[in-house]
Amino acid sequence: MIFDTHAHYDDPAFDEDRESLIDSLLGAGIGHVVDIGASIDTTRKALELAHKYDFIYAAVGVHPSEVEELTEDNFELLREWSEDGRCVAIGEIGLDYHWPEPGRDLQKKWFRRQLNLAREQQLPVVIHSRDAAKDTVDILKEEHAEEIGGVIHCFSYTKEIAKECLDMGFYIGVGGVITFKNGKKLREVVEMTPMDRILLETDCPYLAPEPYRGKRNSSLYLPYVVEEISKIKGISTEEVIRITQDNAKTMYNMHL
Ligand code: NI
Repeated sequence: MIFDTHAHYDDPAFDEDRESLIDSLLGAGIGHVVDIGASIDTTRKALELAHKYDFIYAAVGVHPSEVEELTEDNFELLREWSEDGRCVAIGEIGLDYHWPEPGRDLQKKWFRRQLNLAREQQLPVVIHSRDAAKDTVDILKEEHAEEIGGVIHCFSYTKEIAKECLDMGFYIGVGGVITFKNGKKLREVVEMTPMDRILLETDCPYLAPEPYRGKRNSSLYLPYVVEEISKIKGISTEEVIRITQDNAKTMYNMHL
């Protein structure tokens, strides 16, 4: 069964049909979903979903674009939530330099704090990194993230950066971008990444694969991503599904 390692079913884009859509996933071959928190509010909702559905798990964390809401009190809340039995990771956390705000120092501070929370709680991390490759790799090295482990979600960098992340033991998250006309860089990264280090993800409602690019994404479209990986790797789609599911269970420490 397909393992969607990164989804946001808490998003308002799913308000109208969340229940019926989620109910349709198992029948469509989606065996597991991790709903990823990106703020205090969405982390709370991710945990609610994880308690409501057996096959949905949650990641607890605040996205770099939302770190202005982090206070010591809110950080304590994240710590409390990270002890929830349905929480399988700290994320999404990281650096996003696409916009000028929040300031880089603030992003770095809370990235390091959340990395250390993951270390304390012995949870892997789900990393969001955009236009910030060097600082991300530097911080991961300084914080000895090879001892924490996790995934660089929606990987958008070069083969050289991918190699540095793989050398630290990280997984590479691959989603709809691999089907895009301008997804050549990611296809090259997938080509050089060992199959046992690739994870499937949607980042839904964002980043729907072709032929649905620009539409609302969901785990139901992951077969298009599977198809593209199978072509690049020269293995069957069944193999891609089986291996990436094993990888996800290993990374999230799920002994199912
Ligand atoms: Ni995301």
